[in-house]
Amino acid sequence: LISRAFRRQFIIPEFQEFCKDIEEIYWKCKDNTDGKVASYIPQLKRMSPNYWGVSICTIDGQRFSVGDVAIPFTIQSCSKPLTYGIALDLLGSDVVHQYVGQEPSGRNFNELILDHNKKPHNPMINAGAILICALLKTIVGPEMSLAEKFDFIMNFFERLAGNEDLGFNNAVFLSERECADRNYALGFYMREHKCFPVNSRFKECMDFYFQCCSIEVTCDQLSVIGSTLANGGICPLTEEKVLKPESVRDVLSLMHSCGMYDYSGQFAFKVGVPTKSGVSGALLVVIPNVMGICLWSPPLDSLGNSCRGVQFCEELIKKFNFHRY
Ligand code: DON
Repeated sequence: LISRAFRRQFIIPEFQEFCKDIEEIYWKCKDNTDGKVASYIPQLKRMSPNYWGVSICTIDGQRFSVGDVAIPFTIQSCSKPLTYGIALDLLGSDVVHQYVGQEPSGRNFNELILDHNKKPHNPMINAGAILICALLKTIVGPEMSLAEKFDFIMNFFERLAGNEDLGFNNAVFLSERECADRNYALGFYMREHKCFPVNSRFKECMDFYFQCCSIEVTCDQLSVIGSTLANGGICPLTEEKVLKPESVRDVLSLMHSCGMYDYSGQFAFKVGVPTKSGVSGALLVVIPNVMGICLWSPPLDSLGNSCRGVQFCEELIKKFNFHRY
């Protein structure tokens, strides 16, 4: 018991009570039938709008889940903070930010724009994430095959998730690649402006980006990934140091300012905790030094964020003072 206390077991002392409140908010949000499931690829369109899961993992390893928490979904843009974190860890912030900025774009996630330096605005939007994938491909070593690079990243994601086996949805990958006119347009636009690191293989970089989006997780697994970020890069379940604290700080800063598409400013104002959304309906919420939360429900609002997920965050902050300020 004492050793658990030292390991911050009591980070939320009344965890059972807290979970009751979480469950209450869960049921309140379940009634929300707003939004539309993403329909740009059939595999996402087929997702039931009724799915709704909430999972929590605290930095001392306490867990709570309610709803559809064991159904795999593709991680989509929630992969962006993770690939960014890995790139920071391997290359350092200075190198990474020679290629990608730190400003919110103030536009949609797939908008055909670069910043005034002709760099992607930040790593949380498609352009920036594609470039991060290009960087990862070069740093992992030009001698490695695409398959080995994928394994390397998958292994990193799994370590962030406490050594859980994650999935890969090949149908989503193939569909993403098939319906990727805008992402290719972004890629070509960046290639025109010499944004890519030298020796990047364009097609491989694009494929690698689609593959990262097609990794499958459950709500439970993504909450553990969130808790590793909340815990400065050390996974609370395995106690492995997966990312450096300085990398995690950069990741959380940009999740805070750019993680919720063109709702990021309002979200940072109202909810005030670093969060990243994905088109499959996931929200990866990090409450630094406390816990990771995954919210998953496919119906999205007009900006692309999960309706139930956003409502949950707003209700959570009304009840508990997790807002950073
Ligand atoms: O690039 C795409 O269109 C998707 N595979 C990822 C989209 C997503 O989740 C929105 N991201 N910022």
